[in-house]
Amino acid sequence: MPSSRTDESIAQSMRTVRTAVLPVAGLGTRMLPATKVVPKELLPIGTRPLIQHAVDECWEAGIERVVLVTSAGKHLIVDHFDRAEQLERMLEERGKREALERIATARPPESGRLLSVRQPEPLGLGHAIWCARHIIGPDPFAVLLPDDFILAQPGCLKQMVAAWRELGGNLVATMEVPAEQTGRYGIIEPGRRDGRLIAVKGLVEKPDPARAPSTWAVIGRYILDPAVLRELDAGRRGAGGEIQLTDAMAGLIGRQSFHAYLFEGERFDCGQRAGYIEAQLAVGLSDPEIAPLLHRRVTRGRD
Ligand code: G1P
Repeated sequence: MPSSRTDESIAQSMRTVRTAVLPVAGLGTRMLPATKVVPKELLPIGTRPLIQHAVDECWEAGIERVVLVTSAGKHLIVDHFDRAEQLERMLEERGKREALERIATARPPESGRLLSVRQPEPLGLGHAIWCARHIIGPDPFAVLLPDDFILAQPGCLKQMVAAWRELGGNLVATMEVPAEQTGRYGIIEPGRRDGRLIAVKGLVEKPDPARAPSTWAVIGRYILDPAVLRELDAGRRGAGGEIQLTDAMAGLIGRQSFHAYLFEGERFDCGQRAGYIEAQLAVGLSDPEIAPLLHRRVTRGRD
């Protein structure tokens, strides 16, 4: 008998994540005054703004369209992905090939693959994602928080898409955090661990250390079933009086498969000073032109 693929294996191979939602509506108060005029997502790590790193990670993972959820005063983020015709013409005339190449790699691969919607009020992360519901439609989608800069090879989202193709359901990135920091994160109530995968039995947003079910924190990369959008329809307020994505995800547990993925790579919280500076340092140290200079400076600091 000729070997034929089962319906399930065909469905499995067709399983892809096509849309990624990147909430970029937040104020960035912890990075003031740098973020007074420039949105925090446009602060650079190396020569690429944070938002560029996150969008690049999407294209690398095979995402077809990226949806930026912006707010008033954040139009510069969308402008960043436009053509800069005058600048490009000038660079062309002056023969600045390397600069031209760097600009070209910053643009979306095709027109129409980068979209934006507005979050009209700052009602929380869950609400920001919900604002993109009409673009997301009925398919699974990814969420990336650009503040969470992740140095990884391959990128964190690409690793997660590969794991999710085997698993389906919902998948969030995770890492262990110091016990005293649980109040900064969504925290997982862990079930069975199998290599890089941890079954998720519960989720709590920003619990006090005394009430935290573990020290496994949700990091800003998610692959979610669209059912989470129905959970968000109710607009229930959670921690900090905000509509929390964590609470909506918690509503899926028990009804759908839900796992956390222990990614390979290093994560930096670029929404705050220390994480941002450390990320700059890490990227500098991985650049052969800059690394010797940084090493010399660190040694000098020790003398
Ligand atoms: C958000 C999420 C939180 C998650 C964190 C990761 O919090 O609400 O569950 O652990 O991102 O960075 P925020 O940092 O926006 O307060």
